[in-house]
Amino acid sequence: MIRFFENHSLKQHNTFGIDAKAKYFFEFTEPQDLAEFLSANESWKNEKLIVLGEGSNILFLNDFDGLVIHPKVPGITSVSEDRNSEYLEVGAGEVWDEFVQHAVASELGGIENLSFIPGMVGAAPVQNIGAYGQEVCSVVEKVKGYDLEKGEPAEYSVAECKFAYRNSVFKQYLKNKFIITSVIFRLDKFPEFNLKYGQLNDKVKENGDVNLQNIRKSVVEIRESKLPDTKKLGNAGSFFKNPVVAIELAKKLQNEFPELPVYTGGEGKIKLAAGWLIEQAGWKGKRIGDAGVHNKQALVIVNYGIATGQEIYDLSEQIKLSVYNKFGVELEREVNCI
Ligand code: EPU
Repeated sequence: MIRFFENHSLKQHNTFGIDAKAKYFFEFTEPQDLAEFLSANESWKNEKLIVLGEGSNILFLNDFDGLVIHPKVPGITSVSEDRNSEYLEVGAGEVWDEFVQHAVASELGGIENLSFIPGMVGAAPVQNIGAYGQEVCSVVEKVKGYDLEKGEPAEYSVAECKFAYRNSVFKQYLKNKFIITSVIFRLDKFPEFNLKYGQLNDKVKENGDVNLQNIRKSVVEIRESKLPDTKKLGNAGSFFKNPVVAIELAKKLQNEFPELPVYTGGEGKIKLAAGWLIEQAGWKGKRIGDAGVHNKQALVIVNYGIATGQEIYDLSEQIKLSVYNKFGVELEREVNCI
């Protein structure tokens, strides 16, 4: 099935609920339909293009003067298995959390800590979604889609995806050059549970046995208690990445602020908690017009009503500036600003 609209409102297609319009909007359920649509009209090559899933990691600052592609490819299919793993091909248009629910109900492990993350399956590899010590890159086997430059289907193995913290080749080199239509996941038949994140460990113990169902339940409870529901309050989860800084800077900050939470950030680097820095800079619960900083998790910027994309962006600039002035740390947006 395909649907095509001109001058189409994106309000229902971004979790900030920003009322931006797209010049063209194309939705498809079969990978073949995308190929046919794009090859039928040469002029698409001259249009600006973005791919939009549920719009849970995007902020529109203006109307979008180009073509929005909205993949709605459905399906969760078991494609093969071996002794330890089952391989599932999942359409880009499946809702991420419904896939997690399916995996947990099928006793397959590897994504239970990623329960309740908003968005579609096709978006999961783009920013390498992660939570509570798990990242999607550890279960991706292959990413399939359509190469816009060559005008043909293509696929990427996990090594070619160049996954990093909230990053991948799809967000960098392949940005707007490749449209993901499905992802093949390798899930564990005999999962090793990941309860390294203390708060999750405590919650699971409080809820009972250590198993997939209970981990999922616990993650959902933690997320519900801290993160605002996008259906009730516009937001895009963490607005900034947790900054990765040199050890020297982290040590200097720890001397000055002994409470500073720190995590290992790879070779010679330390990852800091952006939420903590923003809270300490005095922003938690603050509101400017309809744009505000969530009162339970300072890393989340919310739209209390009719904030424009620009107002939310301006608030994020003020936050960046004051965190830099107080700590000398540069915050980088996780949300895509268009
Ligand atoms: N903190 C504060 N004040 C706040 C928020 C956090 O002091 O307002 C402190 C916490 O007390 C804790 C530390 O900062 O010591 C880290 O906070 P938390 O565990 O809530 O996680 P986070 O680092 O803020 C990251 C991800 C989330 C993910 C959680 C859980 C990023 C950018 N964010 O948040 O992912 O759910 O860990 O694993 O990496 C997302 O990407 O949209 C997202 C929600």
